[in-house]
Amino acid sequence: MYTQSFINADASSAAAPAQVSPIESPERMAAFDRAIDADGRIEPQDWMPQAYRKTLIRQISQHAHSEIVGMLPEGNWISRAPSLKRKAILLAKVQDEAGHGLYLYSAAETLGVSRDSLLDALHTGRAKYSSIFNYPTLTWADVGVIGWLVDGAAIMNQIPLCRCSYGPYARAMIRVCKEESFHQRQGYEALLVMMKEGTDAQKAMVQDAVNRWWWKCLAMFGPPDADSPNSAQGMRWGIKRISNDDLRQKFVDATIPQAEVLGVTVPDPDLKWNADRGHYDFGAIDWDEFWATVNGNGPCNRERLATRVKAWDEGQWVREAAVAHANKNKREEKAA
Ligand SMILES: [Fe+2]
Ligand SMILES: [Fe+2]
Repeated sequence: MYTQSFINADASSAAAPAQVSPIESPERMAAFDRAIDADGRIEPQDWMPQAYRKTLIRQISQHAHSEIVGMLPEGNWISRAPSLKRKAILLAKVQDEAGHGLYLYSAAETLGVSRDSLLDALHTGRAKYSSIFNYPTLTWADVGVIGWLVDGAAIMNQIPLCRCSYGPYARAMIRVCKEESFHQRQGYEALLVMMKEGTDAQKAMVQDAVNRWWWKCLAMFGPPDADSPNSAQGMRWGIKRISNDDLRQKFVDATIPQAEVLGVTVPDPDLKWNADRGHYDFGAIDWDEFWATVNGNGPCNRERLATRVKAWDEGQWVREAAVAHANKNKREEKAA
């Protein structure tokens, strides 16, 4: 995944964890500020302001939700992959996303919130996840484009998180980023094969997928900096390291040369190299469409949530069996 700039308060942030005394004092605040100013790490046992804790719970849980919801659009294609090789790669990728979700739920739990409460917020529609997963995957080319562009955008967003001030989140992101790099490469390679060796119909399918995903990927970085009032606080706390607009520009600059190698264009008549700035200029994003999707009215919001809830309900017996097994082991340990 897949972070977008997580700017929306939601009910998952209302949880009030209290492993460490929440009471603020000038001494505690000063020690926290010193650690942040020195670019140090805040660990679960350290005192932290409640606002910092709540922000992290919201961001990490939304990130975890994005990982597991992100399995769904591509999961649809596992049984329809065009070859055994592509199927094995896609299976590995989708399993990686499940693993990312697990690392991130674990990181959120270190802040004193329960995994059950986070999943409940997701399943009841109170929590957000990245809007990019509320669009359909219409063709096999979409799977390649998701790897290349969606995972590519995720890498841009997530590499700075390896330096996040909260230790468990930063450490989780190191492995996540290595796996995202594989995701990006497998998508690009699948597209390259279609563009260099495919039929005209396959090449047209790739171009069509790029046309449908391009603007949505640019929106993944979140609203313009001028409209992101919470970004400054995130920067101050060392949670956010690079602004939405700067990340978006880095993504465009890195991706256009890749599109040229592939032989596809992006659907932006305003895109052009700006020699003075040393960057590509690009056109305006349709933020109305972005917000409609964030607010639950994208093409697949209801379908994604329903699939998640069904998986949760159908897994109830597995969770019960695991608890029964753990209890049996405990009883046997005590009896021994
Ligand atoms: Fe991921
Ligand atoms: Fe990924």
